[in-house]
Amino acid sequence: MSEWVDVIAADALADGENVIVDVDGSEVAVFKIDGQFYAIEDVCTHDGAEIASGELDGDEIVCPRHGARFCVRTGEVKCPPAYENIATFPLRIVDGRVQVRDDRWE
Ligand code: FES
Repeated sequence: MSEWVDVIAADALADGENVIVDVDGSEVAVFKIDGQFYAIEDVCTHDGAEIASGELDGDEIVCPRHGARFCVRTGEVKCPPAYENIATFPLRIVDGRVQVRDDRWE
């Protein structure tokens, strides 16, 4: 089982911001939206762009390369040219710290 990776203090991230962290070799983007935290892989399923550098529109992130949209809460693809959902990751808050782990290979 993969280990939980410490990301950031929960109060250090403002709503609408994100931070990138390496989790077992994968780049994971942790977003804060309306006070809740969500973790998605920082890789667009269309052509591999770093999705977190795109514009956040409500709870959707817009890929900066070709404009595909994904729900940050669920990873669900919302708009072509991507057709596959983006990976999401388990996330928890421990002692005021945000932690994520990669459970995809368990
Ligand atoms: S790489 Fe994201 S839409 Fe093409």
